[in-house]
Parts: sequence; structure tokens; C-alpha cells
Amino acid sequence: MRVLITGARGQVGHELLRLAPEGFQVHGLGSTALDIGNAAQVAKVVAEFQPQLIINAAAYTAVDKAESDAERAWAVNRDGVANLAIAAERLGIPVFHISTDYVFAGDAREPYRESDPVGPTGVYGASKLGGEVMLAANCSRNIILRTSWVFGAHGNNFVKTMLRLGREREELGVVADQHGCPTSAASIARALWTLAVQYRDHGALQWGVYHYAGTPACTWHEFALEIFRQAHELGLLERVPVVRAIATTDYPTPATRPAWSVLDCSKLHEAHDIAQADWREELGLVLRELA
Ligand SMILES: NC(=O)c1ccc[n+]([C@@H]2O[C@H](COP(=O)([O-])OP(=O)(O)OC[C@H]3O[C@@H](n4cnc5c(N)ncnc54)[C@H](OP(=O)(O)O)[C@@H]3O)[C@@H](O)[C@H]2O)c1
Repeated sequence: MRVLITGARGQVGHELLRLAPEGFQVHGLGSTALDIGNAAQVAKVVAEFQPQLIINAAAYTAVDKAESDAERAWAVNRDGVANLAIAAERLGIPVFHISTDYVFAGDAREPYRESDPVGPTGVYGASKLGGEVMLAANCSRNIILRTSWVFGAHGNNFVKTMLRLGREREELGVVADQHGCPTSAASIARALWTLAVQYRDHGALQWGVYHYAGTPACTWHEFALEIFRQAHELGLLERVPVVRAIATTDYPTPATRPAWSVLDCSKLHEAHDIAQADWREELGLVLRELA
């Protein structure tokens, strides 16, 4: 099966290429080879490669920068997805797309289900929601996988930032009043490939929106403590820094962060037998790779 992967140089794109199962002919393109915001380029690449499935791992992911660069964020996260959706529908093929917890307002107390009302609070979340709407409207066979707090050995993420700060500082403050689910890029790639295999073998899936994130839920502060504990154990850090628990208000950012990002992932498990990965084990694999 021929699979076109966009955003192939990003965290998830990288893992999608690395973990492609046997029997899939993968064409992974970075943003220079394929700008998804360019409709003509999308149409050309799709016409040439004739994919049987598109997996979109491309996105404008700079959450804070998006507040002052909204036009670009919308061009990639909404219009780019529309371009892929239209090209896929023309060929009669599905699109698997990755979305985010930021489509929610982040003020809930229970894990978000796919049917819960959305309400993004910033440009990034709104533009990603725009992409979901465009995909659903333009491509009849689509999977939208919302995830959160992505980390991996490749690319920029919280784990890498903590490792750098842990080496530079003896003490640091980490936000302890935001709750979410760290998710390894590799586990997202595995979930998407499991869906691709099911689609290849059965010719259909239960299409629609799904949540997929790591387990258990934690705060950034708890995530940081576990990163330092494991990194120290593996010899990546000489000493564990003091990690102070701080409030969101102590760490102002241009885009507001959801206080509650916990995703209920039971729908994907029930529909497609894909279970959540324990992020602490995934973290161990990533740290070993970095070591
Ligand atoms: N990171 C997170 O914590 C997080 C959380 C929830 C959901 N997500 C979602 O998960 C997906 C994957 O995220 P990630 O962490 O892998 O992001 P990432 O590492 O920032 O990768 C995104 C990739 O998209 C590419 N890209 C940007 N604009 C593009 C364009 N116009 N055309 C084609 N490619 C373009 C970038 O390429 P260049 O670098 O060459 O520009 C980059 O390699 C995204 O949909 C994101 O919204 C991420």
C-alpha cells in the first residue's frame, strides 16, 4: 500500500517513517518538498505518487508564535488540511490526521471525550479545529487523532528542554496546576500504523474523531520529576535538580495553556483495539535513545 506522509521531519513524522510496517511503500516529505498550504503542490504530489492513504503529520505547532503569526497558522493548520482532504477525496482515499487537546477550552474536570464541546482559547487551537472541520467536510473517509504533550528523541519537546535545563541549573520551577497526558511520538506512530494495517486488511475503518494519549495523567511538574529521575538513573544527568512546583500565573505565555488537557481514549480502544501506552515506559525508551 502506498502511503504519503506529510511533515515527515517532525516528531511524529520522523517516527512514522521509522516504524512503517512491512508491505507499506512510504513516501515521506518535509515542508520544503511539500508545503501543504500550497494547493497546486499538494495536487501535483498526489497525482504523481498516487497514494492509497495520506497521513498528515504536518502542522504549524508553535503555540505562542501563532498568536502573532495567525495568518500562517491558519494557512497550514486549516487550509493545508483542506488541500490534502480535497486531493484525497478526488482519489477516493482516506486521510489520517493528527489534532490536539488545544481544541478544548481546558476548563473541564473529567477526561475529555470526543463528543465533548470544543472551545479553543488561542490561535493554534482554533486553527487546528479549523483543520478538523475542513477534513470532515471535504474527505469522507477520515481519521482525526487528537493527542497531547508529544515527546520523542527527535525534535523539540518538553523532555529535551528539561534535560537541557537540568544540566544548566541547580533549581527550576515547573508548572504544577496544568494536567495532561504525555504522549510519545512513537506511540502515536504505532497507533496510526495499526489503523493503517486494519484499513489495508479490511478496506474500511470506523471513521471519525478519536483521542489517543499516554497514560497516566499528570502535571508538568510530575512529568519533569520523572524525566529527571529516569535521566539520572541512566547517567544522562549527573545530579537531579530541585524542581519547584509553580503556578501557571508564575509562567506567563502569549497563548493561554489549558489547565485540563486529559483525554479519554476509550473510544479508540473499543473501536480499534488500540490501548494507551504508559508514558513512563515510553520516556525510558526515548531517554535510552538519547543516551
Ligand atoms: N507537539 C505537541 O506537543 C503536540 C500536542 C498535540 C498535538 N500535536 C499535533 O501532532 C502533530 C505532529 O506534531 P509534532 O510534535 O510532530 O510537530 P513538529 O515536530 O513541530 O512537526 C511538524 C512538522 O510540520 C512541518 N510543517 C510545518 N508547516 C508545514 C507546511 N506548510 N507544509 C508541510 N509541512 C509543514 C514542519 O516542518 P518544518 O520544520 O520543515 O517547518 C514540521 O516538521 C501536529 O498535528 C500537532 O498539531 C502536537
